[in-house]
Amino acid sequence: MGITEASAPAKVILCGEHAVVYGCPAIALPLGNLRAYASVRDGPPGGPMRFRATNLHREWDVGSSATEPLGELALATMRYLGRDPTSLVITLSSDIPIASGMGSGAAIATALVRALTTHMGRALSPQEISALVYTSEQRYHGTPSGIDNTVVAYETPIYFQRSTPPRPGTSPLSSSANIIPLPVPDDEPLNLVIGDTGKHVPTHEPVNDLRRRYQESPQLYDIIFHYITALVKEAGDNIHCRYHEGLGALLDRNHYLLQELHLSSPELDTLVLAARKAGALGAKLSGAGWGGIMVALVRADGSDRVAKALLDAGAVQVYLASTAPPAR
Ligand code: MEV
Repeated sequence: MGITEASAPAKVILCGEHAVVYGCPAIALPLGNLRAYASVRDGPPGGPMRFRATNLHREWDVGSSATEPLGELALATMRYLGRDPTSLVITLSSDIPIASGMGSGAAIATALVRALTTHMGRALSPQEISALVYTSEQRYHGTPSGIDNTVVAYETPIYFQRSTPPRPGTSPLSSSANIIPLPVPDDEPLNLVIGDTGKHVPTHEPVNDLRRRYQESPQLYDIIFHYITALVKEAGDNIHCRYHEGLGALLDRNHYLLQELHLSSPELDTLVLAARKAGALGAKLSGAGWGGIMVALVRADGSDRVAKALLDAGAVQVYLASTAPPAR
C-alpha cells in the first residue's frame, strides 16, 4: 500500500470555555483553513512504528509500548482495530500554533487517527475517532471536557455539553456528551477575526488553577457558571436567528465573566478592547486563557479593519475565519 494522508482542522471556542469542564454548555467551530496533517506508509519489514514530526524536527520509534502521547494513541488505535503494532512511518506536521487555544493537540491526534485507520483499511466514525483522541487527551491533560476532540473530529459547528466522563479501562465509546450540530445559516455566516497574543499557555495550567479555586469556594463559581450557561444558550438561539448584534453582546459578556474567573491577561484584554474599538460586534478570549488567542465577531465588511487594529495592538498573528461555505 502507498501513502495514506489525512488532516484535521483547528478549532475556536465561541463561548462557554472552562464552564464546559463543569458540565455547562459551550459552542465551538472548526477552522477548516488551518490544519494539522498526518501521513502513514508501510515501513521496512520487522521495523518499528517510526514517527517524524516535521515542525519539531524530531523522529522517534515506538515498539510495543510508548511513553509519549502520540505513540500511545497510535498503539491504542491499533488495539481498537484489533491489530498488532506494525512497521510504519508516520509523518506529522501542522499549521496550527501550539498552546494557543486553537486545538493543535487535538488536531494532530485526529489527523493521526484518521490516517492510521484509513491506512489499515478501516473507516471510523467521528464519534469513534473523537473518543480515541479524548482518551489520549484525558491521560495527559487530566480533565478535558471533550469539546476540543469533538469539534475537531466532527468538523462542524457544535453545541456541546459534557455528561458523564469516560471511566478508565472502559471502551472509548462509553464517554457520553450531548453533541448538537449547530448549523450556521449560509446566508448569514459568522465572520471571525482571531488574534494571537503570542503567549503560549498549556491548557492544563489555567484549568488546574481554576479547579483549585473552585474547590475552595464552589458556590461563588457556580453562580458565574450559571450566567455563562444562560449566555451560551442565548448565543445558540442568536446564531439560529441570524441575530449577530445580540451574539456579539453575549461574547462581550462572556469575556467579562472570564475576567471575573481570572482567566484573562493584559495582552488578551488589550486585543479584545482593540477589536471592539475597531467595530467588532463583540470580542472575548477563547480557549484556556492567560494567553493564547482571542476571537472577535465582525460584520461581513469588518474583517480587515479589526485585523489591522489587532496587529497594531500587539497581536503576533491574526487569522480570518468564516462559516461561509468555500467559494466554488
Ligand atoms: C480548551 O480548549 C477549553 C477548556 O474549556 C478546557 C476543556 O474544555 O477541556 C479551557
